[in-house]
Amino acid sequence: MSVREAEVLALLGEHLTHAEIAGRLFLSVRTVESHAAWLRRKLAIPGHRELVRYAAAQRGATPAPLPLPLTSFVGRARELSDLAGRLLAHRLVSVVGPGGAGKTRLAQTVMSHVQDRFAGRVSYVDLAPVSEPAGLPAAVAEACGVADLPGRDTVAALLRGLGEQPTLLVLDNCEHVVNAVALLVESLVSGCPLLHVLVTSRARLVLPFEQVFTLGGLSAGGDAVELFVQRAVSAGWQAPDGAQLARIAEVCRSLDGLALAIELAAVRVPALGLEVVERGLADHEALLVSGPRVGHRHRSMHDTLELSFRLLASAEQAVLCRVFGVRGRFHGRRGNVRRGVRRGQDGRRSRSTRPARRPEPRGARRLDAGPLAAARAGPPVRRCADGRR
Ligand SMILES: Nc1ncnc2c1ncn2[C@@H]1O[C@H](COP(=O)(O)OP(=O)(O)O)[C@@H](O)[C@H]1O
Ligand SMILES: [Mg+2]
Repeated sequence: MSVREAEVLALLGEHLTHAEIAGRLFLSVRTVESHAAWLRRKLAIPGHRELVRYAAAQRGATPAPLPLPLTSFVGRARELSDLAGRLLAHRLVSVVGPGGAGKTRLAQTVMSHVQDRFAGRVSYVDLAPVSEPAGLPAAVAEACGVADLPGRDTVAALLRGLGEQPTLLVLDNCEHVVNAVALLVESLVSGCPLLHVLVTSRARLVLPFEQVFTLGGLSAGGDAVELFVQRAVSAGWQAPDGAQLARIAEVCRSLDGLALAIELAAVRVPALGLEVVERGLADHEALLVSGPRVGHRHRSMHDTLELSFRLLASAEQAVLCRVFGVRGRFHGRRGNVRRGVRRGQDGRRSRSTRPARRPEPRGARRLDAGPLAAARAGPPVRRCADGRR
C-alpha cells in the first residue's frame, strides 16, 4: 500500500467523504475515487461501505502493549547473546525446553534487547489462553494491532498488516497449539519478507527453516543460586552466609536448575527454614506450590508437568510411566495410562502391558515418574489440540 493510499484509508476510517478527503490532501475528487477503488481491489473488499468499515476498524486497532516483567531477570548472559544473534540472522527461532525452564522470560528479555533492530515494530502474543487452534490467527491479529473483521480472512489481513517492514513477532507458550502455529508461521514468514518470528514451546514446530534453541536449567553454581537467593530475600529471608550458599547450590542442583522450581522452593525458605526445604524436596508435590497466580501453568511444578503430560500421546504417556521410577500424579488421556503402571495391592508395579479391561476414571493417576524426572525427559513429542502431530 502506497503512502497516499494509506492516507486515504485513514481518512475513510474517520468517515470523511471523498470530497472532504480531496480537500484535506489537496487532490482532485477523481484521484481520491481511484485510490479508493485501488484499495478495494487490493484488500479484496467488495463495496465502499465495507471499505469504510474496514478503515475504521483498522484505525481503532492498536498493537497490544509488550509485557512488563514484575521480577528481576537473573543471569543467562550467554543464552541472551546467542539467542539475539540467531534471531537477527534467521527468520524463525524456536526456544524449546521443559516447562518452567525460563523460555518465556528469556524470549521477553531478548525481545526488549533487539527491538531497536526492528525499529520498535515488535508484537508479543501469549498463546497460553488460546485453547483452540482456530482462535490463533485472531489472537495474533489482536496483538499486532491488525483489524480482524467478521467474515474476513484473518491470515490475509495479517499478511497485509505485517507487510514488508522489519517486524519481530514473538509467539509465546505455543506447545498446545503447535501445529496451528507451524501453519500460521509458514504463511506469515513466506508472505512477509522482513518478518522474524520468535517462538517458545515445549516442542518444536518442525518446520524446515526453523532454528531450534534448546534451553536447559540455570547453571546450578551461579545463576541458579543467585535466583534462589534473590527470591528468598524478597520473601523476607536474611542474606545467606557461605555455608548456606553451598547448601542452596545443592538444592538448585537437585531441582535441575529449573527456574520455576527454584522460585517455588526459595519463597518457602523464610517461613520453613532452609533445612525443612532441603528435606521437603523429597516430596516435590507438596513443596513446589505457590499461592494464587493468574496463569494456572506455573502455580506449581505439578501443574506445569501435568500440562506436558497431557500433550503426550497415550503410548508416550505409558512409556513415560514405565521409564521413570518415582511417583507423581497426573491426569491422562482417556483410560490410557493404565498400561504399564498398574500396581498390585502391595503397591509394586505390575509387569503387564495388557490394557486394563475397565478404563481408569479420568482423574489423578499415580505415575512411575517424579515431576522433575519427567521434566528431565525433555519436551514432549509434538501433539496438540488439533489432534495432529
Ligand atoms: N533468568 C531468569 N531470571 C529470573 N527469573 C526467571 C528466569 N528464568 C525464569 N524465571 C522465572 O521462572 C518462572 C518460570 O519461567 P518461564 O519463563 O515462565 O518458564 P517457561 O516459559 O519455560 O515455562 C517465572 O516465574 C520466571 O519469571
Ligand atoms: Mg512459557
